Amino acid sequence: METVKIALLGLGTVGTGVYKVLKAQQEEIPHKVGAKIQLKKVLVRNTEKASRKLDDPSILMTEWKSILEDPEISIVVEVMGGIEPARRYILDALHAGKSVVTANKDLLASHGKELMDAAAETKSDLLFEAAVAGGIPIIRPLKECLAGNHISEVMGIVNGTTNFILTKMAEEGMEFQEALALATELGYAEADPTADIEGLDAARKVAILASIAFHSRVTFDDVYTEGITKITATDIRYAREMGRDIKLLGVAKETPEGIEARVQPMLIPSTHPLASVRDSFNAVFVHGDAVDDTMFYGRGAGELPTASAVVGDILDAVRNMVFGCRGRIGCTCYKEIPLKKMED
Ligand code: NDP
Ligand code: HSE
Repeated sequence: METVKIALLGLGTVGTGVYKVLKAQQEEIPHKVGAKIQLKKVLVRNTEKASRKLDDPSILMTEWKSILEDPEISIVVEVMGGIEPARRYILDALHAGKSVVTANKDLLASHGKELMDAAAETKSDLLFEAAVAGGIPIIRPLKECLAGNHISEVMGIVNGTTNFILTKMAEEGMEFQEALALATELGYAEADPTADIEGLDAARKVAILASIAFHSRVTFDDVYTEGITKITATDIRYAREMGRDIKLLGVAKETPEGIEARVQPMLIPSTHPLASVRDSFNAVFVHGDAVDDTMFYGRGAGELPTASAVVGDILDAVRNMVFGCRGRIGCTCYKEIPLKKMED
C-alpha cells in the first residue's frame, strides 16, 4: 500500500492537534483513503520549544527549502498563520506540484484569488475547511453539497473567542479581560487576539463564506466590521432583562444593491436558535432556494475541533491523489457582483 508523506508548517495549537489526530487515526486511515500517511517533516521557528510535543523530534526543522525540495513530500499543511511567509510557502508548494491544506483565514481573506489561481493553474488541491468555523464542515457543504442551490444568505456566529467572552460575561458575570485570558489559554484566540475582539477574524471568515456562496470575490476590506470591545457587562444585563442576548454576528446576503457583508454585535431574542450557541461554539445558517434553511453547528475553535477539519482535508487530498482526481477545487469562474455600501 502507498504511503503519502506530508509536512506540517507550524506546531502551535492547531499543528499539535493535527499531530494528535493523525496519530489517533493511524490504523483507520488506510481503510478510509487507501493509503498510509507519514508525517515526514515539521517546520517551526523554535525547535527546542516544539521538541517535547513529538515522539520523534528529529522531524523538526526551521528550513522551508528542505520541505519544498523534498520530492517525497506531496502534501503541505500550513498551520503557522499570518500572511508572510505563509503566502510564499503555499505558492511555492503549489508550483512544486504539492497539494496544500491550510487553516489560514487571514491569508485566504486577503489573497484568496492569488492562491486559487495558482491552484487552478497547477491543478493542485488547495483545501481550507478549517479556515471558517473551526470544526464545523461549512466550506465543503457550500461548494459541493449545496451547489445545486442559488444561495442568498449566509449568516451566524463565526468567532469562538468572542462568543466565549460574551457567554462568560452573561452567564458568570466574568470580566471581559478575564474571559479573554481564558479563551487565549484554551487555544481559541488568535496569536494577536485583537483580531478576535475587534471582529476582524469574523470579517475574514465572512469574506471567505461570501466569496464561495455567491461565486464572487469578497475580501476582508469589503466587510463592514465592528467588534465587541465596547460591550459592557451592563449592556449584557439590560439586554437579558429585555429577553435578549448580545451576539457577534457575521452576515453576507444578496440585496438589490449588491452583496451586503458585515460583522457586528446584535441583539437577538433569547428564544432565537443562535442565543443557545454558547462558549466557543459557532453556528452558520445558509439559505438556498432549493434546500430552504440549513444550519451548521459545532465547535468553532480549539486544538482538536480545528484539527478535525484539517485532517479531513488531508485525507481528501490523499484520496484525490490515490484516485487521480486532484485540483477539483480550482474553479476560478467568478461573477462580478457589486458590494452594497455600508454606513457606520
Ligand atoms: P499558534 O500561534 O498556536 O501556532 C503557530 C505555529 O506556527 C507555531 O508552532 C510557530 O512556531 C509556527 N510558526 C509561526 N510562524 C512561523 C514561521 N515563519 N516559520 C516557521 N514556523 C512558524 O497558532 P494556531 O495554531 O492557533 O493557529 C494556526 C493557524 O490556524 C492560524 O492561521 C489561525 O488563524 C488558524 N486557526 C486557528 C484556530 C484555533 O482555534 N487556534 C482555528 C482555526 C484556524 P514557533 O512557536 O516556533 O514560533
Ligand atoms: N480565533 C478564532 C476563533 C479561531 O476564536 O474563532 C477559529 O477560527
